[in-house]
Amino acid sequence: MDFSRIVLFSAISFCFFFLPIQGRYRALSQISLPPSPAPSPAPQAAFLSSGGTVSSNSAAIFNVLSFGAIGDGVTDDTQAFKMAWDAACQVQSAIILVPNHYSFMIQSTIFTGPCKTGLILQIEGTIMPPDGPNSWPKNNSRRQWLVFYRINDMSMQGGGVIDGRGEKWWNLPCKPHKDVKGTKLPGPCDSPVALRFFLSSNLTVQGLKIKNSPQFHFRFDNCRDVHIDSLYIKAPSQSPNTDGIHIENSNGVKIYNSVISNGDDCVSIGAGSYNVDIMNITCGPSHGISIGSLGIRNSRACVSNITVSDSTIKHSDNGVRIKTWQGGSGAVSKVTFNNIHMDTVRNPIMIDQYYCLTKGCINQTSAVLISDIIYANIKGTYDPRSPPIHLACSDTVPCTNLTLSDVELLPARGQTVLNPFCWNAYGALNTITIPPVYCLLEGTPQFLPQLYADQC
Ligand SMILES: *[C@@H]1O[C@H](CO)[C@@H](O)[C@H](O)[C@H]1NC(C)=O
Ligand SMILES: *[C@@H]1O[C@H](CO)[C@@H](O)[C@H](O)[C@H]1NC(C)=O
Ligand SMILES: *[C@@H]1O[C@H](CO)[C@@H](O)[C@H](O)[C@H]1NC(C)=O
Ligand SMILES: *[C@@H]1O[C@H](CO)[C@@H](O)[C@H](O)[C@H]1NC(C)=O
Ligand SMILES: *[C@@H]1O[C@H](CO)[C@@H](O)[C@H](O)[C@H]1NC(C)=O
Ligand SMILES: *[C@@H]1O[C@H](CO)[C@@H](O)[C@H](O)[C@H]1NC(C)=O
Repeated sequence: MDFSRIVLFSAISFCFFFLPIQGRYRALSQISLPPSPAPSPAPQAAFLSSGGTVSSNSAAIFNVLSFGAIGDGVTDDTQAFKMAWDAACQVQSAIILVPNHYSFMIQSTIFTGPCKTGLILQIEGTIMPPDGPNSWPKNNSRRQWLVFYRINDMSMQGGGVIDGRGEKWWNLPCKPHKDVKGTKLPGPCDSPVALRFFLSSNLTVQGLKIKNSPQFHFRFDNCRDVHIDSLYIKAPSQSPNTDGIHIENSNGVKIYNSVISNGDDCVSIGAGSYNVDIMNITCGPSHGISIGSLGIRNSRACVSNITVSDSTIKHSDNGVRIKTWQGGSGAVSKVTFNNIHMDTVRNPIMIDQYYCLTKGCINQTSAVLISDIIYANIKGTYDPRSPPIHLACSDTVPCTNLTLSDVELLPARGQTVLNPFCWNAYGALNTITIPPVYCLLEGTPQFLPQLYADQC
């Protein structure tokens, strides 16, 4: 994940793009006339072929076909989706139905709330954007495709597919992984996040298949109480920046029972995130589960109370990783990685406080403090090209209270066992580990940078 780009996106997209578009969208919705007489909500029909669980019998259903959507995969169905949204938004516990056996092409759209509570977006068919940068309307944002903004209490669910059609975006000359040398050429590089939830709360996203996003598949920012369950996210291992689920400035996030394979972080947790619970997910191929990168351009980042448990990471560059830039401040604390199976993972356990995407990162004294991190029951195999445990903490701000128990990591091939690497890492081994982590410094450092933690 290219963090500098994210930060830029947040600022630019909000200030210069988001607000004007929102205004235009409102105006558009008001002036556009439905192609047929505005349909009244149909009584609930037996449409739930797969995965849906709608109990209320009085639910009002807003089928996008009734608003003029064609669903042939070619016609632009954006207006129909906007009209269905505007109508359903006014009704308590409304269901917007995207029916099975249809493929809807919709442009970059902001679905704006607040809406009445209990809204369900039931996706049984396929939704996809225009195919690649050349088909993308010039006046649409190239940083986001479907945006949900200021929504409280919505569920997005169903057995359908969201197909990001990312390939032409991945092949832009500016993208990394483009050729063997990894050189990036100049040229436009913005690529849309498939699904962005912004300033929203009490969201459920479940059951869907999301594939081939041009950039991140999901991005949640400034959200709280988000429940993600049973998602299937898939993009090729060489697709650049296709993080599965990215969260930042969000809290109360649960990510359960999902399978993610992609070309970047499986789940990435950015600054301002706390109370995040990740359980029973399978990642790989991917870049693993990451906290960070944090502290870019001397920023303050606070992340705490994150649990990742009962999960599998396979054929990935990293397993569980905490990455920070030099020069930041704030803290990552109270993180538990428990019961994680590693299968041929390059860096199963990794702390990198020297994260840097260019060659020219200079050494700085300030850093995001890393403390109170538990690694428990992490077993499996590592790709022996690099050590299985890599704890590279800041020169000036040591990591404190790292505890390891029941860690058993064996090389996926060959006999050579690589020694763990530690730098300025303090903590305790609660059990014998394989390989043994002799380099972990016992106890607490003499200088305790409490100052950093207190800022959070
Ligand atoms: C973009 O331009 C097209 C054609 O001029 C117009 O129909 C559409 O509403 C515009 N979209 C936005 C988001 O402004
Ligand atoms: C959150 O959503 C659930 C399920 O839709 C609902 O029962 C609950 O009342 C909502 N809570 C809030 C605070 O909106
Ligand atoms: C874990 O997630 C997988 C994939 O969604 C699911 O098939 C399995 O039932 C889940 N296991 C548990 C214990 O919930
Ligand atoms: C930590 O997060 C979990 C949810 O993942 C929450 O239930 C718990 O209350 C949080 N703990 C604290 C101390 O806030
Ligand atoms: C930065 O610090 C690291 C670790 O102390 C050292 O290996 C490296 O040479 C330093 N780099 C520069 C540019 O000073
Ligand atoms: C070390 O971290 C663990 C887990 O977060 C916590 O329970 C414990 O209190 C911490 N110990 C110290 C000395 O801060």
